[in-house]
Amino acid sequence: MFTEEEKKALYKVIYKRRDIRTFQPTPIPEESIYNLLNAAHHAPSVGFMQPWNFIMITSQAVKERLAWAADKERRALAIHYEEQEAKQSHFLNLKIEGIKESPLTICVTCDPTRGGSHVLGRNSIPETDQLSTACAIQNMWLAACVEGLALGWVSFYKKQDVRDILEIPPHIDPVALLTIGYTDEYPDKPILETSKWEDRKKLNPLIYKNKWGENESL
Ligand SMILES: Cc1cc2nc3c(=O)[nH]c(=O)nc-3n(C[C@H](O)[C@H](O)[C@H](O)COP(=O)(O)O)c2cc1C
Repeated sequence: MFTEEEKKALYKVIYKRRDIRTFQPTPIPEESIYNLLNAAHHAPSVGFMQPWNFIMITSQAVKERLAWAADKERRALAIHYEEQEAKQSHFLNLKIEGIKESPLTICVTCDPTRGGSHVLGRNSIPETDQLSTACAIQNMWLAACVEGLALGWVSFYKKQDVRDILEIPPHIDPVALLTIGYTDEYPDKPILETSKWEDRKKLNPLIYKNKWGENESL
């Protein structure tokens, strides 16, 4: 079904994709934006409920307000490292968003009411609607990578702040703010790895056999 070359291309984009927080102001061609949105829209979703919407934000004034909400949250979260001064300053020095610089921010939302009260499969695990939205975001992230675009997932915000700024109704969840644009810096490793915040864990110890905790090397 797929040639060796096509398989290689898929794994290449999976390993190459990065979370990016620095952007050039260069505008993004409409065709690339459409490709990203259409990739997102072809993600799997529980009961095929397709709970997503995409709010396209290009207004600098709106971006300033979203950046304010993210920065407020960043400062609030710094309190978790209050007793470790070095860790706190490391945290505060991390760049966790690039909302003001990126030419486009997309707020991806999830509507838990879409499809009514009996969405196939969602009755057992209600958060499958959010998981479906995350699948859409991952599709968009991979599509951005092949379009030569950088994407950064911003989740530092209070949902209510984002609802207020974007006039989102109270039952709709703003799942993510995605900052998108061209960049000069597309590193090989996660920024949190190179800035010595966290390393990639080894895969083998995460794999269990037949029951939780039973580990055998593959
Ligand atoms: C659900 C989710 C929320 C995230 N929120 C943020 C965020 O608010 N700010 C940020 O800088 N990165 C955020 N990230 C990006 C992660 O930090 C990043 O994916 C991780 O460090 C691994 O790096 P990589 O994506 O380049 O492989 C988020 C990623 C996910 C999946």
